[in-house]
Amino acid sequence: MDDGLVKCLGVEKRFGGLRAVNSVDLTLHKGVFSLLIGPNGSGKSTLINLISGFYYPDSGKITMNGVDITYFKPHERFKLGIFRTFQNARVFPSLTVLENLIMAAGSRRGENVRFAPIRWNWIIDEKELTMWALRILELVGLDGLRDQQAGKLSGGQLKLLELGRVIMSGAKVILMDEPTAGLNPVIAESVLTHIRNAVREMSLAALLVEHRLDIAMKYADKVYAMFNGKVIAEGAPEEVLSIPDVVESYLGEKLT
Ligand SMILES: Nc1ncnc2c1ncn2[C@@H]1O[C@H](COP(=O)(O)OP(=O)(O)OP(=O)(O)O)[C@@H](O)[C@H]1O
Ligand SMILES: [Mg+2]
Repeated sequence: MDDGLVKCLGVEKRFGGLRAVNSVDLTLHKGVFSLLIGPNGSGKSTLINLISGFYYPDSGKITMNGVDITYFKPHERFKLGIFRTFQNARVFPSLTVLENLIMAAGSRRGENVRFAPIRWNWIIDEKELTMWALRILELVGLDGLRDQQAGKLSGGQLKLLELGRVIMSGAKVILMDEPTAGLNPVIAESVLTHIRNAVREMSLAALLVEHRLDIAMKYADKVYAMFNGKVIAEGAPEEVLSIPDVVESYLGEKLT
């Protein structure tokens, strides 16, 4: 295994007197699907926001490929390939699934897609781009829906389209805060399967916050458990879930 694409070293974020994230060390590796678990308020979203640059830490350091990116702005991290997804998938509802993917490539080329000309005359090889988009649609399981309007997709399909767009944009690191929230278990499993396949095939470094441990544990390569702002355990899923402190931190919440 490489020695890590993205690293958090002693990262801390305070809100007033509250240490929402407290001395966190975490490493994201290429091709590794990491899961961030922990009860409500344990600091998971704050940590995602620190890695994606929506917050800056009060102390500690974040690096990518050894470069200190602690105070890089979100768009600077985006250029390096660090992407986060949002609760509501960001897609163009009136465009088809395939067009949505092709539009996402604009950001890979440093274009502002909103102002891109309709014919995308900045595309050097449109055919190549379309082939690449079709390959990604297959990877995320949407190849059968390439001509469907994105606005007509189901919740699970939208998540997959968002994943496809992120890959098409040139993501190296994906951060997802509860991507399966609101999805039924069968759809959630399908979304997680496609995320895992994309992580492996594209050698992405992924960090995903997930509440439904029973489902997510099947897909994760590595788990970080947070409690009160700290990482209290890390390792293989079955290892982490067998640690009494982790189980106890969930008491009062549903474990699965
Ligand atoms: N912008 C903010 N201002 C003040 N306090 C905040 C802010 N964001 C988060 N917090 C607090 O920091 C702590 C960690 O919050 P965070 O949202 O990171 O937890 P979480 O693990 O994502 O929880 P959940 O499972 O409910 O999503 C909580 O006590 C929360 O109330
Ligand atoms: Mg959260």
